[in-house]
Amino acid sequence: MDTFLRLFGISTDDNRIDQATGLTEKQKKLVKNTWAVIRKDEVGSGVAVMTAFFKKYPEYQRYFTVFKDTPLNELPNNKKFQAHCASVITALSNVIDSLHDPGLMEASLIALAERHKNRGQRKEEFQNLKEVILEVLCQALGKQFTPDVAEAWRKTLDAAFEKIYQVFAS
Ligand code: HEM
Repeated sequence: MDTFLRLFGISTDDNRIDQATGLTEKQKKLVKNTWAVIRKDEVGSGVAVMTAFFKKYPEYQRYFTVFKDTPLNELPNNKKFQAHCASVITALSNVIDSLHDPGLMEASLIALAERHKNRGQRKEEFQNLKEVILEVLCQALGKQFTPDVAEAWRKTLDAAFEKIYQVFAS
């Protein structure tokens, strides 16, 4: 049966659930493959996430001393804003790249959350960003954002943000 399924590119291992993340191997592949599309344009994707975030929560822009006074419509062309946006995508890429190694993934999420907690960020702000990330993924991926891809991303972000929330709870 295994050989038969593999002939069609379906491995039974693909359905094995990783206890650490709650994701199947198939879901990890869906996340990695779709993230490859997003990370191709780090600046553009980061700008999409951060402008959607500030549009929905204008009060958050004041945390960013470097571009707190720049009007929202000027932000996409602001190089300092672009640099920040690219670094957010790089940080998310590190998380996705370590999906196969939950210990490594946890370590980078905890370090990220601690840096933010030390600067005064709150759990609620991360919860709001998580929803915005999902919305931007849906828009950016278009037809590729199938129900299976959406489910895989929801689970991935749930697992990742749960680690971040632990830091805010401690
Ligand atoms: C998964 C979510 C997030 C990622 C991947 C991320 C990523 C980053 C990165 C890479 C940096 C620069 C290096 C560092 O200090 O860590 C940074 C800085 C910062 N982040 Fe985030 N961030 C996230 C969520 C948030 C949220 C929810 C807020 C608040 C609304 C926030 C506010 C800030 C601020 C104020 C800075 C400092 C900017 C500066 O003045 O240089 N971040 N973030």
